[in-house]
Amino acid sequence: MITDESVERVREGADIVQIIGEHVKLRRSGNSYRGPCPFHQGTGPNFSVVPAKGLYHCFVCNESGDVFTYLQKRLGMDFPDAIRYVANKAGIVIEEVQRSAEAVDTRQPMWDLYAMVADWFRTQLWDERAGEAARNYLSFRRVTRDVADRFGLGFAPRDLDAMRNHLVALGVSEEVLLAAGLLVQREEGGALRPRFRDRLMFPIVDASGHHVAFGGRLLGPGEPKYLNSAESPVFTKGRVLYGLHMAKHAIRREGRVMLVEGYFDVVRLVSAGFEWVVAPLGTALTEDQAALLPRYAKQAFLLYDNDRPGLKATFKAGDRLLHERMSVQVVTLPEGEDPDSFVDKFGGEKLAEQLSDAVDIFERKLNELARNGYFAELHRKRVAIDKLLPTLRATADSVTRDIYIARASELSGVTREALEREVSQMSPRVSVSQAGRSPGPPPVEEEPIADRRSSGRRRPIAATPGIERSLVRILLHDRSHVEQVAEHIGPDELRDPALRDIYRALLSVPPDDSIEVVASRLEPESADLFSLLQREPIGEGEEVQGSLAGSIARIRRTAVQRKMDEITRAIRIASPEEQDVLISEKRRLMDDLAALGGGSFKSFDRARQT
Ligand code: CTP
Ligand code: MN
Repeated sequence: MITDESVERVREGADIVQIIGEHVKLRRSGNSYRGPCPFHQGTGPNFSVVPAKGLYHCFVCNESGDVFTYLQKRLGMDFPDAIRYVANKAGIVIEEVQRSAEAVDTRQPMWDLYAMVADWFRTQLWDERAGEAARNYLSFRRVTRDVADRFGLGFAPRDLDAMRNHLVALGVSEEVLLAAGLLVQREEGGALRPRFRDRLMFPIVDASGHHVAFGGRLLGPGEPKYLNSAESPVFTKGRVLYGLHMAKHAIRREGRVMLVEGYFDVVRLVSAGFEWVVAPLGTALTEDQAALLPRYAKQAFLLYDNDRPGLKATFKAGDRLLHERMSVQVVTLPEGEDPDSFVDKFGGEKLAEQLSDAVDIFERKLNELARNGYFAELHRKRVAIDKLLPTLRATADSVTRDIYIARASELSGVTREALEREVSQMSPRVSVSQAGRSPGPPPVEEEPIADRRSSGRRRPIAATPGIERSLVRILLHDRSHVEQVAEHIGPDELRDPALRDIYRALLSVPPDDSIEVVASRLEPESADLFSLLQREPIGEGEEVQGSLAGSIARIRRTAVQRKMDEITRAIRIASPEEQDVLISEKRRLMDDLAALGGGSFKSFDRARQT
């Protein structure tokens, strides 16, 4: 830590005119110096530097500050670096002290170890023989030596002993390597093996520059494609952003940060000259990661994959960044491209074009809803508003939130007052213990990208509602019932997307056609569930008739109930005329519900008996 006393000495000794004069052409004018403002790229002499006060000021864009803020804002230095820079220019020796006498961090040995291992991986990569395959992979991915060195890339060989031998010779014990997660033991008393084998290694460095972990990519196909270090006392995956240590000055200088999904995206963008880029480590952006950013920049650009999970991750990250009062822009890359492949194919200039076409995150969300017809009718409008509320609630900056509310009102036709009322109400999913706190971002579960990828867009099968499942399963095995069930249940009344899809396919195919025809009408997402259900035979004693009737009755009742709830909530945001329509619709549904009664579904039983 630099002592306060030193900071003051440096400030007093600084020649602000000389330092700023290195970048701006200044001319003396009385007690001050004038020149074109570097902050708004002005051309007239509106930028003034007053040496007696040690301050600068622009009369056009109103930027002002001292020599340290100048270096921070213009060159992206952090405060201590700015002090050291000026001290060096002025020939002033500064005193730096440990925070307290015995403040050597207990994590230091672990940081040192990871740095040592990163070094070893690097030597392996550039070793004539050991690193050949990895170097070939790098050139296949068009990463130059220069770029690889910037990121300290390395290679973990397949060899079981090389790393251990090297480190043990340097005095590191096997226990320490085991505790650091660099060696693993499959079972009690079993052999120690390296965690990373045959992988291209990305050292992970925290924002203060400590080596804390690794990410390793297989050189060829295989699973898992990427493997990260396990969490440890120095490494919490959700607190580190890949590349931040290197990018932070550029981020501060640019006033913006670009978020991408993967290691290679970061590497590619930095090598194409976009140094203000970081990535989370294979999970959705966490609150902790989002909280690292506003100290460097106020604006974030999200460049995630252009597919459904990518868009979902974009909106989730967006909410977290809005909660940090950042302004958030979304860049939509062509389908199938990630930032790495895009820049590799089309070059950096094309990426710059994409960046200038970036859209505000809320606007993007509105577009997406509008495109899917959500604002076209009353009930869905309510659903659309529900999808917007978490974002509105997450937006911590009140001016931005006002603008968003105005836009949402404009597009949906719901009044601003109604929207504001909804925003200020606690989200129904927030637990009671959180009630009364200021509205924050909704709790979001982490979704590892690895899982997301390997399971495609499918939903977990275990989560499918039981009654719908048993109904569809029976129909799949005995398609003669399909027509009768169809009289009572429309495909939209099933809630589970995969079951709904299978049901829809069943309805669309005549009962005499083979089951393969049904299978061919499925969305790829529901194929797994389809074959799973097919493999579950109908038991001997299974009471098909009663079970069908019961299922229909319950599905109908839930469907009606759900519609009524939807209307109740739609009434809250509707205009008086719309409310009249909705209320009479709700009455009709109440009658329907009464008619459905309890127990099994009579009309179906009767239909079967005749
Ligand atoms: N990831 C992970 N585990 C996996 C797959 C991915 O931790 N099994 C993380 C990695 O940090 C990876 C990021 O998620 O960089 C993005 O994954 P993905 O889009 O699948 O990979 P790419 O970055 O495109 O990797 P590559 O270009 O090397 O194929
Ligand atoms: Mn990629």
